[in-house]
Amino acid sequence: MSKIIGIIAGSLRKESFSKKIANGILQMAPAGFEFKIIPIDELPIYNQDFDDHHKVPASYLTFRNAVQSVNGIIFVTPEHNRSIPAALKNALDVGSRPYGKSVWTGKPGAVFSNSPGNIGGFGANHHLRQCLVFLNIPVMQQPEVYIQKSNELFDEKGDLKAGDTKEFIAKAVNAYIDWFNKNA
Ligand code: FNR
Repeated sequence: MSKIIGIIAGSLRKESFSKKIANGILQMAPAGFEFKIIPIDELPIYNQDFDDHHKVPASYLTFRNAVQSVNGIIFVTPEHNRSIPAALKNALDVGSRPYGKSVWTGKPGAVFSNSPGNIGGFGANHHLRQCLVFLNIPVMQQPEVYIQKSNELFDEKGDLKAGDTKEFIAKAVNAYIDWFNKNA
């Protein structure tokens, strides 16, 4: 049976470069693997009252089930003020609760950060890694993936253009699959 890898893009923006990179990765699934996007767009800001008072938004249940059903996760995060976007942090929080029922635990992960700037989302990459330690998501250490000039990577259809960055992303996906096979 195929292993399923979820891809989470940490941006709500329709034309998000992170979403476009995630879509590019979607097409790189090797034999024996299925990649699927797990959207975070519809998640209200986490409020513990939802869980405590049986008023859990349907979008929380959909999201938690989607994460639960995958074997591993690739995070494609942009950088907001040298950290991860609030929308991505919110998705991590939603998946981590109710207490004791986190859906993240033990799913091998990878962090791909990106930015139109030159630093490739370094700050977001490492802030995300801090959260993933606590959530008990083992994360691929190498290669580190900092994708710069994200605004220059796509053709008019929004697909990744052939070139060094696309090749680098494909190599990083392969490295993740190798690492996943050793760690899952
Ligand atoms: C940004 N941006 C940004 N870029 C960066 O390299 N480092 C940063 O710290 C920030 N900070 C930041 C804060 C906020 C609130 C916004 C809206 C943007 C720019 C960011 O990289 C750019 O908008 C990307 O296009 C966002 O990713 P998506 O939406 O294209 O995936």
